[in-house]
Amino acid sequence: MTTARSSTRPQLIDDVAQLRQRLASAREAGLNVGLVPTMGALHEGHLSLVDACRRECGLVVVTIFVNPTQFGPHEDFARYPRDLQSDLQLLAAHGADVVFAPQTEAMYRDRHCTYVEMTGPAETLEGDSRPGHFRGVATIVLKLFNLVQPERAYFGRKDFQQSLVVRRMVADLDLPIKIVVCPLVREPDGLAKSSRNVFLSQSERGRALSLSQSLVTARQMVSDGQADVAAIVTAMREKLAAADVEIDYVAICDRDTLRPLEKLDGPAVALVAARVGQTRLIDNELLEGPS
Ligand code: PAF
Repeated sequence: MTTARSSTRPQLIDDVAQLRQRLASAREAGLNVGLVPTMGALHEGHLSLVDACRRECGLVVVTIFVNPTQFGPHEDFARYPRDLQSDLQLLAAHGADVVFAPQTEAMYRDRHCTYVEMTGPAETLEGDSRPGHFRGVATIVLKLFNLVQPERAYFGRKDFQQSLVVRRMVADLDLPIKIVVCPLVREPDGLAKSSRNVFLSQSERGRALSLSQSLVTARQMVSDGQADVAAIVTAMREKLAAADVEIDYVAICDRDTLRPLEKLDGPAVALVAARVGQTRLIDNELLEGPS
């Protein structure tokens, strides 16, 4: 593998033709290409993906695009945080080579009418709560894969279901891309890093901790030998209710299919979504099952 470390600002590209040209010359130079798709408002979670990509790829391409098709009509597309200049500075410090930040019209041209529809893991949890969300995610991710044609693409485990959906799409459509899922990054007090955390007031920030704490409860119960999923989910819900957050879902599922489990007898994942004030947050934790 050839690597080329950037020390300056990444090249900012908003045009598809220019992106293709840059990628062609990187390939001619023998560089393998890594892609980190983001919606910007970058935090340490995103930057850990960029670091992993930097370690493993010759050319690090980060995309910044707040994708309208993955937001529902009453969701936070308009107020989603955007700060390209700060993102570029962070990406320079982490050695990104290229930032592709297109306008909406460049991604969804006039008369765009092609979308990726998925069943299976895209239909539950986030898929249930946010109809059309994964249609939008899969469509834009497939477009970015086609444009960049990376050897490797990096996603965070914070969006557990998204990484599963993307892995499924890549397998189903025979895309020659290795999907790398990187660990979830938390604040020191446990809150999962999220671009949406900036929306939380000080008191909401305190209440939002109940998401990660409910997952700690789940882990603790499992390590104490509890295998009954209903009992674990009840304890998680109690933790969330005590913090007065509006629970969307609490689930313990099979890690590969997201099928809900009744009994823990092997690797699983606990997932939670809740609204804290106006802000909807998600979090998850891997569970190993009682030993
Ligand atoms: O995780 C995100 O930021 C987005 O869902 C993604 C993968 C960049 C697609 O818009």
